[in-house]
Amino acid sequence: MLEKGGKEDFQESIKTYIQRELAQKLPKDQKILVVCAKGGTSDLVAKALNTCGYKALNLAGGMRAWGDFYDQKLVFNSPDFSIIQCIRPSRGCLSYIIISGKEAAVIDPLRIASFYTDLFQKLQVKPIWILDTHAHADHISSGHLLSEQYKVPYHLHPYDGIHPLDMLPAAFSYEPSWQGKTYRLGKVELKILHIPGHTLGNLAFLLNGKYLFSGDSIFLQSIARPDLGGRAKEWTPLHYQSLKTLLTLPDETLVLPAHFSSVEESNEQFLYAAPLGKLKKTNEGLIMAGRSLEEFSAYILSHLPEFPPEYIEIKRVNIGLVKPDEEKASELELGKNICAVGMQKKE
Ligand SMILES: [Fe+2]
Ligand SMILES: [Fe+2]
Repeated sequence: MLEKGGKEDFQESIKTYIQRELAQKLPKDQKILVVCAKGGTSDLVAKALNTCGYKALNLAGGMRAWGDFYDQKLVFNSPDFSIIQCIRPSRGCLSYIIISGKEAAVIDPLRIASFYTDLFQKLQVKPIWILDTHAHADHISSGHLLSEQYKVPYHLHPYDGIHPLDMLPAAFSYEPSWQGKTYRLGKVELKILHIPGHTLGNLAFLLNGKYLFSGDSIFLQSIARPDLGGRAKEWTPLHYQSLKTLLTLPDETLVLPAHFSSVEESNEQFLYAAPLGKLKKTNEGLIMAGRSLEEFSAYILSHLPEFPPEYIEIKRVNIGLVKPDEEKASELELGKNICAVGMQKKE
């Protein structure tokens, strides 16, 4: 335990504690990252470690800043169009921006709208399509907010415009995204695929027949869970049929999911993307979708992870039924997403 006292005493106490308790446990030849909630206490600890001869760094802003950190990577670039993958590492969430000429489409924009508005401004493009693959449960979407800022419609499948547990309709208006509808953006054709299962209005978008924005359906190492509407048994057969539909796409189709579970899933370019043909051989959930419905259902229902209670409230937020302040919104999103079916534990 640290001894009590003023700030200087506190630092001295940390040094004493480090020398007494951690000397044999911490390496002096490796960098040590010190983390706390907001970056204040960890700064003092990092300084104390450094005075004791360690190579310590402080995570400025702490877990709060890390939680709100978004990154971006180019998936594809050509004179006709480009695709950007937006990455929120703390939660394993991904969203996408497609650009053609001076216009853009955004798919599954995450909570911090300024990340997207800053990027649109920097790239001198205007979003004309603001799309969510579904009403998310694990994170707050900035889709409707962006649609208001840019005075363009927000697009969602109408089945997801109803809260699956409250049975209440969205408190704002939106444009319905229907199966077979196509969004055009310069040389880009973005076709809607209705793939119910994870939600009833769950969608994927197929760009020029080559890039699949799979949302919460196919991830790189797993598949989405079908139980967040409280009807796992009823929705599992829908999920099965939807995955079978996606499996008919060509092996070269590049899958761009809405989540990842580990940085190890990224490829050589640090992108979270893989050809469908590869996933057909390596993704346990997709392999199970190639078997009978009975086998698939047994697999899904025995691999459902915990149901985070805040997911019910987040879905309310995403259809405008409740409007949390920044503090509450951030609190709702704490922790990693749990949108995937749990994977088989390796023995
Ligand atoms: Fe989801
Ligand atoms: Fe999700």
